[in-house]
Amino acid sequence: MHGKTLRKFPKKHVTCELTHHSIQSTAFFMYFFGNVTRFTMKITVIGAGNVGATAAQKIAYDELAHEVVLVDVIEDLPQGKSLDMFQAMPILGSDTRVIGTNTYEPTAGSDIVIMTAGLARKPGMSRDDLLFKNADIVQSCIERAYALSPNAFFIIVSNPLDVMTYVALKTTGLPRHKVIGMAGVLDTARYRTFIAMELGVSVEDITAFVLGGHGDTMVPLPRFTTVAGVPLAELMPQDRIDAIVKRTANGGAEIVSLLKTGSAYYAPSAAAVEMAECIIKDKRRILPCAVWLEGEYGLRDVVCGVPIILGKNGMERIFEIKLSADEQAALAKSADDVRSNIAKLTNV
Ligand code: LAC
Repeated sequence: MHGKTLRKFPKKHVTCELTHHSIQSTAFFMYFFGNVTRFTMKITVIGAGNVGATAAQKIAYDELAHEVVLVDVIEDLPQGKSLDMFQAMPILGSDTRVIGTNTYEPTAGSDIVIMTAGLARKPGMSRDDLLFKNADIVQSCIERAYALSPNAFFIIVSNPLDVMTYVALKTTGLPRHKVIGMAGVLDTARYRTFIAMELGVSVEDITAFVLGGHGDTMVPLPRFTTVAGVPLAELMPQDRIDAIVKRTANGGAEIVSLLKTGSAYYAPSAAAVEMAECIIKDKRRILPCAVWLEGEYGLRDVVCGVPIILGKNGMERIFEIKLSADEQAALAKSADDVRSNIAKLTNV
């Protein structure tokens, strides 16, 4: 019987049939299980500064999208950076197209928009000056991007981050699961790095959360920090934990004081792209992100960093963990700081 079949369909032909068939079923599988969707994604990055350009570069290098569009007001800057990035693709083996533009038309139909544009604080400028100026920038950029990509998810990176996430929510009127601020992932990455440095172990084995606003009052949670499943307190004395918590809260300022002419961008851009990747691949990772709260963690009408499940629908849900009274008080205080900045914007 077996021999008969082989005679009827010469081996070569059978192989071809099978190959063709398996290509078809792989395409079918990929279509329904996400791989094709991933490759056809379009991502816009607003702001071709260090954070935006590094984010676009990582998206392209990791081939997370079919197309990444880098938009900036500065003439020729996004075009130059994008062309340079695109020219690296033959070497790196990625077919992501990288496009630079000063107008929003090429961003149309994006699946994800990462907002990084905004001013950094200059000498003589108060935090409040920055707040008002960046609110204007975020509002006008998001307005234009949203008009052309009404189905997109928005990841907000511009500072002050929690307040700018609020501005983006109000500008678009989108539901809260589609507009998400970045900083918890960045602050947690810094915290994990400091712990790994102290213990001399892999950064990958540190599991942790930093909650709250992206500012001095952020809330690293040592009680929920483990090293390969072992509670941090069993591996490190309390004074070292306290020092790491303090260094984490000061993490952005430490980089600014070293760079002197700018702020951090490798870690912030990696954090934003990790969030985009969770949405693209429907990973459902639990990551601390800045979202609009409606009573979760006892907080409402404010954007604040809490753990969320991040998947193909953006914020799939808020992941609530029971905090101690001290942790809860620290989170409430951090949320109050964000709330008072939101009030400054809305009271003018
Ligand atoms: C930081 C700033 C950029 O934390 O938010 O590095």
